[in-house]
Amino acid sequence: MLRRLLIALVTADIITVDRLTKRYGDLTAVDGISFSVRQGETFGILGPNGAGKTTTLEMIEGLKGITSGTAVLGGHDVAQQARTVKSLIGVQLQASSFFDGLNLKELIETFAALYGRTVDAMQLLRQVQLEEKWKSQVKELSGGQKQRLSIAVALVNDPKVLFLDEPTTGLDPQARRNLWDLISGIKRQGKTIILTTHYMEEAEVLCDRVAIMDHAKIVALDTPLGLIRQADVGSTVEFHVDRQPDLDALKQLPGVEQAVSENHAIRIITKQPEQTLPALFEFKAKAGLAVTNVQMHQATLEDVFLKLTGHLLRE
Ligand SMILES: Nc1ncnc2c1ncn2[C@@H]1O[C@H](COP(=O)(O)OP(=O)(O)OP(=O)(O)O)[C@@H](O)[C@H]1O
Ligand SMILES: [Mg+2]
Repeated sequence: MLRRLLIALVTADIITVDRLTKRYGDLTAVDGISFSVRQGETFGILGPNGAGKTTTLEMIEGLKGITSGTAVLGGHDVAQQARTVKSLIGVQLQASSFFDGLNLKELIETFAALYGRTVDAMQLLRQVQLEEKWKSQVKELSGGQKQRLSIAVALVNDPKVLFLDEPTTGLDPQARRNLWDLISGIKRQGKTIILTTHYMEEAEVLCDRVAIMDHAKIVALDTPLGLIRQADVGSTVEFHVDRQPDLDALKQLPGVEQAVSENHAIRIITKQPEQTLPALFEFKAKAGLAVTNVQMHQATLEDVFLKLTGHLLRE
């Protein structure tokens, strides 16, 4: 007990999840996952569609019932002290669910009132770069602006922990980068952020630590660099093909650990590129395959995911 208390003090965990499970009938959406989030860290859950990311967040937020296991936030068990937990967190809502007929300033004041607070709405709008839009309605905003507004709304109660569920999905690269800056700024204010994403680059840029989730389980958890080192992926060879080659045959080539195809591109993970590359060109010649655009690069989180799960993040 004392040891656990000391560990909690030293690492200052703000969220502790222990064997958290969610079942819907026969379907296990979240399968006994355990992890902790440290105070002030940005923690990412990276995984494909249906992995269980949203379900995990919603159980911790107290929005969804827990089948078994526990989630503790700020020392409060979320299943037993949901009200206290809700006062400590900010949850990004989908902008489409906002009230019509209010301008942005009124909207923020209304949300603050729901928490029994008064806020400086203009200051919050400034923080998300929507100050000039204060007279606009939500329907007049672009996708990126809506996302930023929903973050401002999630901040009205000055939460200790901010939950962002796929904050940049559907945004163009520029708007995505813009949102990354905003999230980094919120992190610098000392807030703990837990976010989900499909984008490995987003996880690499924003997150101190990343849990990789697949089929309801956490398959790896570390810093982005740590994950790449730990997975010991080696190198990735990518190339374009004129038609689908025999993937199983490709997997048999020397050094090859994984091979997948995506549209007309093949991605191979290899520990011995100096053996794999000549074998690959021999394979291509034998199969009469047209190979173009051959590229090699160092492993990314996407490759870690491929190595751990045998499939790509976005399929
Ligand atoms: N209310 C529900 N009833 C039944 N099954 C559900 C319900 N909500 C989610 N699921 C199932 O639980 C699994 C995990 O869903 P979840 O929404 O947590 O995935 P996700 O990782 O957030 O996916 P995405 O990236 O698409 O948002 C899926 O198989 C989903 O169909
Ligand atoms: Mg989701």
